[in-house]
Amino acid sequence: MKAIRTHGRGGPEQLFFEDAPLPEVRRGDVLLQVRATGITPTELTWDETYQNADGAPRIPSIPGHEVSGVVERMAPDVTDLRPGDEVYGLADFPRDGAAAEFAAVRAANLALKPRSIAHVQAAALPLSALTAWQALFEHAHLVAGQSVLIHGGAGGVGSLAVQLARWRRARVIATASGRDTAFVRSLGADDVIDYHATRFEEALRDVDVVLDTIGGETRERSWRVLRKGGALITLVSPIPAGVAEQHGVRGIFFIVRGDRGQLDQISALVDEEKLKPVIAEVLPLARAREAFELGAEIHSPGKIVLQARAA
Ligand SMILES: NC(=O)c1ccc[n+]([C@@H]2O[C@H](COP(=O)([O-])OP(=O)(O)OC[C@H]3O[C@@H](n4cnc5c(N)ncnc54)[C@H](OP(=O)(O)O)[C@@H]3O)[C@@H](O)[C@H]2O)c1
Repeated sequence: MKAIRTHGRGGPEQLFFEDAPLPEVRRGDVLLQVRATGITPTELTWDETYQNADGAPRIPSIPGHEVSGVVERMAPDVTDLRPGDEVYGLADFPRDGAAAEFAAVRAANLALKPRSIAHVQAAALPLSALTAWQALFEHAHLVAGQSVLIHGGAGGVGSLAVQLARWRRARVIATASGRDTAFVRSLGADDVIDYHATRFEEALRDVDVVLDTIGGETRERSWRVLRKGGALITLVSPIPAGVAEQHGVRGIFFIVRGDRGQLDQISALVDEEKLKPVIAEVLPLARAREAFELGAEIHSPGKIVLQARAA
């Protein structure tokens, strides 16, 4: 098959479009004909991109962990999907990804893709939508009527978090660059703060939940906007012990995981037109190097997607 493979730690210059063996189909796996894969520009910096779960080196390795495609065949123990099913999902990080014509993905990480959208759109959802879902609903327990501050509301995760929080009937405040404020409002935010112009902590107080997709000083300045007993969910790095407690709130860092049940709910929301993927650019698989370069440079909202075969 054709695949994009990285030949060593580094940036997009290490990526090559080349022949690669078909992936090994392990217990619990499905072999997919990949139609599209969403890329995450930072994945070339992750250890999991270059090593297996046991720490053994994995080079060359295939990036791209958000996938939408068609089931080619299943491992003998997989009985709940069939050849020809159109699925989408999240490939495990310490394994080869889906920037290829075929990918082996655990069946438990896949669900039937939303019927109303194409594979290139579905491939923009799994990582960002699952992260937003798990942050808001599993970790923050966000309920109707609560307020949530979403940092980076125009970003991959933020743009879906704004929509999901709106669907949950929360009051949604987001931060974004000035050029993106109208876009983030169109996703359902009640208020959008231009983070270049206004210090959010001077405008907000007694917020129930903060979703931090930025980290650093943005996270540090966020504690004070929370009500006592509120929750700060961060995606970027672990929170040092004791910090959340000092502020009288819950503080949680987590890593997203694949989850078929949640993907099913995300599919339903997309088909009901309550949630839409946000796409910055679609490029053919062969141009992956350019896609990763673009990902590091561009500031337009949404995901960059690689298209593996004509849908
Ligand atoms: N823990 C997990 O499981 C998990 C899962 C997914 C993602 N992540 C991490 O979460 C982070 C966000 O991912 P993403 O895919 O959403 O990134 P992204 O698409 O690059 O979005 C980031 C957004 O934040 C905005 N931004 C930058 N600085 C800001 C600031 N100081 N205040 C408010 N907004 C700001 C950017 O806008 P401008 O470009 O206009 O500045 C951009 O719209 C990354 O670090 C990623 O690695 C973690």
